[in-house]
Amino acid sequence: MTDSLLLVSVTDRVATVTINRPDKLNALNAAVFDALATTFPALEARADVGAVVLTGAGRAFVAGADIAELATLDPSALEALSLRGQAVMRGIERLKKPVIAAVNGFALGGGCELALCCHVRVASTKASFGLPECKLGLIPGYGGTQRLPRLIGRGNALKLLLTGAAVDGAEAYRLGLAQALAEPDALLGTATALATTMLSNGPLALAAAITTVDAGLDLPLDASLAAEARAFGALANTADMREGTRAFMEKRPAQFRGA
Ligand code: COA
Repeated sequence: MTDSLLLVSVTDRVATVTINRPDKLNALNAAVFDALATTFPALEARADVGAVVLTGAGRAFVAGADIAELATLDPSALEALSLRGQAVMRGIERLKKPVIAAVNGFALGGGCELALCCHVRVASTKASFGLPECKLGLIPGYGGTQRLPRLIGRGNALKLLLTGAAVDGAEAYRLGLAQALAEPDALLGTATALATTMLSNGPLALAAAITTVDAGLDLPLDASLAAEARAFGALANTADMREGTRAFMEKRPAQFRGA
């Protein structure tokens, strides 16, 4: 069952993961979370995959947590659901391969939060981003209250949170919520091209860049700079670093091996 909820295809080292519950606008129920929780580590382990593009089937990226599931829960069950969703999204955020959200349509509530845990977001002009939980008498529970202000600033984040209003792809791009904007029929191509550009770089360097940014954002600057220096130094042990610098001097493309 989980297989059909997430469609996975791999071309030229880019895995495209499509959330496939279009009749419910890809709402995140327990089964979708289970599928995400097993699929991403499996992609991290695959040698033929270097980057992931995450998108949704039909007219939504993800229209949120499954409200039908939420409505029945008591406080401890709701908290447990929040912790589960947070853990799955943190796992995606910590993947050592680039993850790009290709936001094709509604990215509301948990869908916006899922896009936020990806490393980069490409928005369709038809996308719609928002955190409407306050309209349901709730707040975001999958990291939205924390990742959105870190990405677009406290004032912009609180405006979206407190109004519950959605913004389109162009406004998301202007706010810095999305890092690229594409017409709907160019969305996957744009996201894949971005992934392919990343894949021309050293995979160990990509992993170190993701890890260093992730770990450093919440540390005091002196501590995060020290962590950067350690990661920078550790890369000197890699054949990829030697190959990358030699290729530059020899004026040829580098051939990275991930070692
Ligand atoms: N959870 C569960 N089901 C959802 C859902 C969600 N978050 N979002 C949409 N659906 C379901 C609808 O119930 C409907 O199912 P049905 O056909 O069995 O009735 C189906 O998906 C299509 O949605 P519908 O509302 O008919 O489409 P629309 O085009 O009229 O509206 C939205 C689209 C996105 C504006 C609307 O679905 C919506 O507001 N969804 C909830 C968004 C939200 O609050 N997310 C945060 C949750 S914490």
